[in-house]
Amino acid sequence: MSHSIFLTRVAIRNYKSIAQCDVQLHALTWLIGPNGSGKSNFLDALHFVRDALDNSLENALRERGGISEVRRKSYGHPNNFGIRLEFVLPNGTPGRYAFTVGALPNNGYEVKKEECRIGLNANCDYFLVERGEVVDTSAAVFPKTTADRLALLNASGLPEFRPLYDAMISMGFYNLNPKIIREPQKPQDGRSLKSAGENIASVIAHLTKGAPEAIDEISEYLSKVIPSLHGVERKAIGPLETLMFKQEVSGSKSPWEFYAQNMSDGTLRAVGILTALNQVSDHSRPTLIGLEEPETALHPAAASTLREALVKASQRMQVIVTSHSPDLLDDPEIRSDSLVSVVASGGETKLAPVDEASRDVLSKKLFTPGELLRLNQIGPDKKSQGFLNSKQINLFQED
Ligand SMILES: Nc1ncnc2c1ncn2[C@@H]1O[C@H](COP(=O)(O)OP(=O)(O)O)[C@@H](O)[C@H]1O
Ligand SMILES: [Mg+2]
Repeated sequence: MSHSIFLTRVAIRNYKSIAQCDVQLHALTWLIGPNGSGKSNFLDALHFVRDALDNSLENALRERGGISEVRRKSYGHPNNFGIRLEFVLPNGTPGRYAFTVGALPNNGYEVKKEECRIGLNANCDYFLVERGEVVDTSAAVFPKTTADRLALLNASGLPEFRPLYDAMISMGFYNLNPKIIREPQKPQDGRSLKSAGENIASVIAHLTKGAPEAIDEISEYLSKVIPSLHGVERKAIGPLETLMFKQEVSGSKSPWEFYAQNMSDGTLRAVGILTALNQVSDHSRPTLIGLEEPETALHPAAASTLREALVKASQRMQVIVTSHSPDLLDDPEIRSDSLVSVVASGGETKLAPVDEASRDVLSKKLFTPGELLRLNQIGPDKKSQGFLNSKQINLFQED
């Protein structure tokens, strides 16, 4: 197993369109499936955990329109939603963390159950909290808990739970928006890139100062995507700042400078993706990054460069990519077990390994995943657990 893997397995129940799923993750995992199948909802479940811990559960719910929008809408019994994450901490300790959240009247909510185990042996560190009451814990003194917050946030004050908390809030999720990258930005904290790229100029400034090798790598890949580009830096404009690109112009000896304002959507998205993949602050990197459709607005010829950047980044941190681009997946080296097929039927999302026939041709390298996607010949393994969903996944017990 690669040391870059933080989340090894994710189980979800009743989160948005996902009735239930149980997915193994790799250093680089590709979530593939048509529009509206639920790829973003899967990433959003992980993003939700990050937000609920980094800020508050209340805020994470509110930002998404409240619990009624977050839990799965279905006929009949109202749904509690729940998420279980199996992880390996940067120090190598495995463990798992799970919680379920239920609705109360007037758009209220409560954490029904929350369980955390750091280490899987008998004398591991753990807690079990139900509706705000500590039921069991290894800690001599556990901080006060309430039913409207995740207890891991409170437990982050204890040294044994801190590394998990830190790893969880170091996940980053990206849906880069060229419009936002193009606008002049307020100087702000540049230690980690925000979701749409709204602080990218500050991140580039932070990297230029603290990690010039990251800037070199961003520039190198950028010039492979757009051969005339020679680099990117942060430029102040009055009280604001923006990205400035150095671009070769025929007939001119030295490169010309172009502000983000005048660059194409594809260029701005590419620089956003490369910045997300290369960000580092005080030698620490995100534990996991989720990238939404990185191929958008990029020329198909740039797909192999983008893929190379994704593969390289996944040696340093875990990467999950949503995509439906045959060009991005046109590589015989992509292993079938790193593909997760996402499909929706009757408004319900299913996530499963790809079907056996696809696995077979991929392992023999007869086709690339991209070619199968183009031929519409890659789908979920209908015999897999994830597809049958015959029994309800128990989020709180080891299988
Ligand atoms: N609370 C919910 N309950 C049920 N379905 C939901 C809920 N929230 C969103 N959806 C469904 O999720 C689908 C969109 O999923 P999404 O992850 O954005 O797709 P993709 O990223 O694969 O294009 C929509 O069809 C929407 O109806
Ligand atoms: Mg999506």
